[in-house]
Amino acid sequence: MPPLLGVNIDHVATVRQARRTDEPDPIWAAVEAQLGGADGITFHLREDRRHILDRDAKLLKETVSVNLNMEMAIDSEIVAIAADLRPSQCTLVPEKREELTTEGGLDVIRHRSRVASAVTTLREAGIKVSAFIEPIGEQISASADVGFHAVELWTGAWAHATNEQERQAALSTLSYAIDVGLKAGIDVLGGHGLTYRNIGPIAALPGFTEFNIGHSIIARAMFVGLRQAVREMKELIIRHARD
Ligand code: PXP
Repeated sequence: MPPLLGVNIDHVATVRQARRTDEPDPIWAAVEAQLGGADGITFHLREDRRHILDRDAKLLKETVSVNLNMEMAIDSEIVAIAADLRPSQCTLVPEKREELTTEGGLDVIRHRSRVASAVTTLREAGIKVSAFIEPIGEQISASADVGFHAVELWTGAWAHATNEQERQAALSTLSYAIDVGLKAGIDVLGGHGLTYRNIGPIAALPGFTEFNIGHSIIARAMFVGLRQAVREMKELIIRHARD
């Protein structure tokens, strides 16, 4: 089966919050993304509520009929909200107030006890839990050990590579990391910096079950509409996974 596509709709809320108004509505975006063939909707409820608001999280839960993936920090207030909301999936990410978007992966080894306690709470609420981490063997094994059902590998090294040598190195690092994850018995997803131009070789790597893509799809949606932008990314993933 080709990897699934989760569409991150945070940027739609970012535009709304630029004017603190009620448009564009990320709930509408979620519906359009679903109509374009998204297999999942991803949103990040940040501690500073800079884009997605609590109201959005609640309405997404009521509206979305595909996989609903909530990205979140290991913060007790947010963990409690997630356990109450019960999205189908939670992805634990590092979060810094000064960053533009999530940078790099969560250090599961360093924050092991806090991470483990959040994983236990979310698992007990019946939520699938994923760790957004760098493609490092030890981080993947630690994620499996603390009870994550899945890891989402940071694809930034691939996205930011500037020459063939860097691209090949990024691909082989990801390929090795996928192997470690699958051998540990967890699902392996990918995300960060994936675009219409760079998705091909990543989609062709065997083992990824899903990609979470935000910026590139929302950027394209400005010109072709979200439904069409999602459809095009979906087609690319399917085509390259088959090659
Ligand atoms: N996956 C995770 C865990 C993220 O934090 C983000 C960014 O919000 C993405 C995927 C999507 O990244 P991009 O916007 O670069 O496609």
